[in-house]
Amino acid sequence: MKIGVIGAGNVGGTLGRLWAARGHQVLFGSRDPGQERMQELARGAGAQAGTVAEAASFGEVVVLATPWHGTQEAIAAAGSGLNGKVLIDATNPLLPNLAGLAVGTTTSAAEEVAGWAPRARVVKAFNTIGAGYFANPTFDGQAASLFICGDETAAKEVVAGLGAALGFDVVDAGPLKNARLTEQLAMLWIDMTYLRQAGPIAFRLLRRPH
Ligand SMILES: NC(=O)c1ccc[n+]([C@@H]2O[C@H](COP(=O)([O-])OP(=O)(O)OC[C@H]3O[C@@H](n4cnc5c(N)ncnc54)[C@H](OP(=O)(O)O)[C@@H]3O)[C@@H](O)[C@H]2O)c1
Repeated sequence: MKIGVIGAGNVGGTLGRLWAARGHQVLFGSRDPGQERMQELARGAGAQAGTVAEAASFGEVVVLATPWHGTQEAIAAAGSGLNGKVLIDATNPLLPNLAGLAVGTTTSAAEEVAGWAPRARVVKAFNTIGAGYFANPTFDGQAASLFICGDETAAKEVVAGLGAALGFDVVDAGPLKNARLTEQLAMLWIDMTYLRQAGPIAFRLLRRPH
């Protein structure tokens, strides 16, 4: 599969590297694709580096992993390349100093993203656990849950496959609107990890037969 990455930092860089290692074609998008960091990332992953617009055009699936304050600008830079694409929104709408979320009960980062990229097939995912655990999301023998939210089943299935390939326990957490809930879960993970030093931690949905 061809995967474009917008925001090739902790989250985007890690996901792109892991999926490239599993045989996917990856193009890391950057505002400055010529910078040494991007060239090294692409070389090390056996991937390509390009502009944000090139990443959007390249990917059948595009990962959006920008800081919240730069997300609208990044989507504008991606332009029409996002049309029709599965857009994995991994952002969290964090306030400065991790003080909380900039949006919450009446909308979510994911719904804002869908408004800024109205022809993309937005799926919320990879936002409720630190990027440092993407390579091995197993905690005490149990896979961490990957909560995915979206309004289109086929798009969610693509993201579920990419998450399962990394070893996550994939959970369909409902429509895109439910990103309001998973973004709060992300805030709990951040609070527990950084303010309460409770890590390493992850969430898992427990189930038992009816
Ligand atoms: N860190 C985590 O463990 C984690 C886990 C889950 C979710 N998240 C969420 O995922 C998002 C990314 O977090 P991160 O830690 O990966 O951030 P990061 O390491 O700072 O990387 C973000 C990347 O976005 C790019 N960027 C910044 N402003 C941009 C803009 N205006 N247009 C285009 N690209 C821009 C930058 O790349 P260039 O300078 O090369 O353009 C930067 O490398 C955030 O919303 C965060 O809340 C983070």
